Amino acid sequence: MCGIIGYTGIGNAVPKITKGLSVLEYRGYDSVGLAAKTDTGIKTVKCKGRIGALEEKLEASPIKESGTAIGHTRWATHGGPSDTNAHPHSVGKTVLVHNGIIENYRELKSELEATGVTFVSETDTEVAAAVLNGEYERVGDPISAIRTATSRMTGSYAFGILFSDKDGEVFAIRSGSPLILAKGADGYYLASDMTALLPFTNEYYCLVEGELARLTPNGATVYSADNTPSEPAWSVTSMTAESAQKGGYPHFMLKEIYEQPEAVVKSVSPRVKKGQPDFSADGIDAEFWKKVKNIQIVACGSAMHAGLVGIRLLEDIAKVPTVSCIASEYRYHPPIATDGTLVIVISQSGETADTLAALRYATDAGLPTLAIVNAVETTIAREADKRIYTYAGPEIAVATTKGYCTQVSVLYMIAAAISKAKGLIDDTEAAALVKGITEDAPKAISDMLENVEMLRGLSERLAKKEHVFFIGRGTDYAMSEEGALKLKEISYIHAEAYAAGELKHGTISLIEEDTPVIAISTEEALYDKTESNVREVRSRGAYVILLCREDAKNAEASADAVIRLPVNSAAATLFASLTAVQVLAYETATLRGCDIDRPRNLAKSVTVE
Ligand code: F6R
Repeated sequence: MCGIIGYTGIGNAVPKITKGLSVLEYRGYDSVGLAAKTDTGIKTVKCKGRIGALEEKLEASPIKESGTAIGHTRWATHGGPSDTNAHPHSVGKTVLVHNGIIENYRELKSELEATGVTFVSETDTEVAAAVLNGEYERVGDPISAIRTATSRMTGSYAFGILFSDKDGEVFAIRSGSPLILAKGADGYYLASDMTALLPFTNEYYCLVEGELARLTPNGATVYSADNTPSEPAWSVTSMTAESAQKGGYPHFMLKEIYEQPEAVVKSVSPRVKKGQPDFSADGIDAEFWKKVKNIQIVACGSAMHAGLVGIRLLEDIAKVPTVSCIASEYRYHPPIATDGTLVIVISQSGETADTLAALRYATDAGLPTLAIVNAVETTIAREADKRIYTYAGPEIAVATTKGYCTQVSVLYMIAAAISKAKGLIDDTEAAALVKGITEDAPKAISDMLENVEMLRGLSERLAKKEHVFFIGRGTDYAMSEEGALKLKEISYIHAEAYAAGELKHGTISLIEEDTPVIAISTEEALYDKTESNVREVRSRGAYVILLCREDAKNAEASADAVIRLPVNSAAATLFASLTAVQVLAYETATLRGCDIDRPRNLAKSVTVE
C-alpha cells in the first residue's frame, strides 16, 4: 500500500528519499515520486512503475543538492497507475503526498471546480492539495491552513506537505493512517512505516490521531489537536536496518519462513512463568481470563485464518465458544455479544483499515477488546483495551508467514492460559501445552525445513497446474484455508480450500486426471475420514499430496506423495503442517518465476477499507 518518506536537514535529501522509497517497496506500489525544495523552487519527479524508473528520470534530469524533500510510493485507488496520478501532487504553493482515501473528494472537487480550479489527475489527493492550497492562500499560516483544510475532509489521511515559500520545512498530519517522525544525526524524518527510517536512525515518535507536525533542520514540533506545541517524546526502536534486509536469502519470504522457530520462541516465552502460561507482563491476569465466556476474533486474510485455527484451540483447550469474523463484514453483521464476550483483533501490521474499523465498532459497542499485533505502537495496538505483541520482527514479504505463525502461537498460549485460569487443566497439563508451543513447535518447524528438497520436488508438479485444492477437517480445514491463500497470492495458481467432507457435495466435479489435491490430516481421530476423502478424489484421477501424522497407517497406499508430520505434541504437528504448505507455495511460485515478495496487485499494509 502507499508509503511516505520525508526529510529535512543538513544532508542531501534526494538520495535519502530514494533510499527510503526503496525500503517502502515491500508494501506494494505501482508508481513513485518525490518533490525536493531547491533554490529555484520545488522540483517534482514522478512516474508510473518502480523506483528504477524514477532513478532513470532523476539521472536524466538531476535535482541539484536539496536539504528538504518528500517522497511517495502509490498503490492506485482513485485513478489507475500513471505518471499524472503518481504523488506528489502540486497545487499553487502546496505540494503533498498522501496515504489513505479522502471519501468526500467528489463534493470538494465540485466545489473547487465551481470556483474555476482545474485538475490534471483523477486522484483524491490532488483535490486535498487544492483544498489545502486554498486555505494556505487565504490564511498564510501553514498550521491553521492544514487544520482548516483537513477539517473539511472525511476519510483517512496521512499527509507529508511542502509549501514553496517555507524553506527547510516539512509538515505532516495524520488521521486514520499512520505516520512516524524520526530524529537523525543530520536532520529530521517522516515516514509511514518504521522500516523506511531504519537506514537513518532508531529514534522515533509515532504521531497520534489528529496530531500535526512541523519538521525543520533544527528540530521537530508536534501540535496537539488544540494546536498546543511540544517536542516529540522520542523512543528508541530495537529494530535494525539488518533485520529488514534479506540476509543472503533470495527472498524475504523465505528468510521469514526460516525465522519462524525463533519468532515463535520470542513471542511465547515472555508469556511463560515457571513453566505455566502467564500473561501478567501484558497486564492480563487469571481473573481477566476467567471472565471470558465467549470470544469474537476479528481480522483480515491470513490473520483471520489464524483466528480459524484459534477457534479450534480456544474451544478444544479452553472450552470457550469462539467465532472468527472477516473484519470488513463485522460491522454489518456482528455476532451477538453477551456478558463475557471478548473481542480479539489480530493484525500483523497493526494498521489494517478494516480491522481498525471493526475494533472501533466493538469499542463503541462497549465490548472489551484485546489486540494481537506485531508492529509496535500502531493504531490497533494503541486503541485496543489490551494488547499482546507477537515478536516476529519486521515482516517485509507481502505474503505473511512468520506473522501468521506467531499469531497462532500466541492464540495457543491464550487457550492454555484460559484453560488454566478456569481450572480445566492442572499444572502438569498446562506445562505440557506450554512445552508443546515453546519447544516442540519451533523444533517441528526447523525439522520440516530440512525437507525443502522434497517439497521443491512436489512443487514442480504444482507449478504446471492452474488449479489446486486443499482439503482437511477441523483444524486442518483452517490450515487448508491458509495454504490455499499462500499458494494463490504468490504463484497466481487458483487454489481453494474445502472441508474434506464437503467436496462430494459439489466441488468433486472439478476433479479430473492429475488435478492436484493437498490433503492435510493432523488429527488422529479424523484421519480415517480424511483418508476416505483422499481415496474419493484419487479414484477420480486427482494427484494427492497427503500431509499426515508420522504414525498414520496406509498413507503411502492412499496418496501419491506423503509428507509425514511429527506427533510428539499437537503443536508440533500443527506447525509442521503450516511450514510444509508455506514452503510448497514458495517453491511453486519460484518455479513459476513470480515476484514472490511483491505479488501483483497486493499491498503489505492495507490501510484502505
Ligand atoms: C496474506 C496476507 C494478508 C494479511 C491481511 C491482514 O499473506 O498477508 O491476508 O494477513 O491483509 O493484514 P494484517 O495482519 O497486517 O492486519
